[in-house]
Amino acid sequence: MIKKAVLPVAGLGTRFLPASKATPKEMLPIIDKPLVQYAVEEAIDVGVDEIIFITSNEKHSIEKHFQENNAIAEKLIKSGKEDYVERLNPKIFSDVKFHYINQNNQNGLGDAVLHAEEIVGDDSFAVLLPDDLFFSNISCLRQLIDTYKQTKSSVIAVNKIDKENIHKYGVINPGKKEHDAILIEDIVEKPSADEAPSDIAACGRYIFTPSIFDHLKVTNFDKLGEIQLTDAIKNLIQNQKVYARLYEGEKFDCGSKKGFVHATIALALRDSSMSDDISKIIKEII
Ligand code: G1P
Repeated sequence: MIKKAVLPVAGLGTRFLPASKATPKEMLPIIDKPLVQYAVEEAIDVGVDEIIFITSNEKHSIEKHFQENNAIAEKLIKSGKEDYVERLNPKIFSDVKFHYINQNNQNGLGDAVLHAEEIVGDDSFAVLLPDDLFFSNISCLRQLIDTYKQTKSSVIAVNKIDKENIHKYGVINPGKKEHDAILIEDIVEKPSADEAPSDIAACGRYIFTPSIFDHLKVTNFDKLGEIQLTDAIKNLIQNQKVYARLYEGEKFDCGSKKGFVHATIALALRDSSMSDDISKIIKEII
């Protein structure tokens, strides 16, 4: 149903310097898996078979990461470590086509998504921001697809955000409830706490009908010199219904150091091979 997913990964990763100098921020691992792979797996799990990275010249390691590496596989097999081959070259990647498009200027998230237009064509598609890491029985993207199946309209994942953090997000003005979702009346990018129309914010997963591209093309630069996806959604709402689906599950904002460390600790405590040791270590430190 949704076969294509766009992953914007061209950002400079300023908050993670110097770690993000030679290694893209998206390649930093939560335990043993790069952040970007979690989003790729979430997309493949719902049946996506084309992943479109909007990337930059500096980030070749992302491309390398999603290619098969037979040289290392052979070495692993020769040294009796066959069990690691699946981790090296996961089978789920073999049927997926990975595209890499350079976004040469830092013109914002809206501009990044617009770069995918030619490959996406006339299909509805998903957008996943890899900084936002989700864990739930039914994945965030699957929850969106559930709403998309019922509405055949664009739908964005949202969650509740406290007042002191609301200025970091796209915030919706919610309308009535329809099909397990909320009709969006308006959406504002990064409002001040006082101006926010609600406490319900976009959280990094979207499904769009291809009409979003027409709106991105006529979206002006904002005062920071960026084309905001939120502004294109604001325009799309004038022509089509756009829904917000309240995400049910756990979320880590790995775009911030705090969220990144939180995700690392949470996953370490869930990993049976080390959870006892890690909780002991944490208790000792405290
Ligand atoms: C982007 C979007 C914002 C959204 C957020 C979710 O902001 O512009 O609307 O709420 O992702 O993480 P960024 O985090 O790139 O500043």
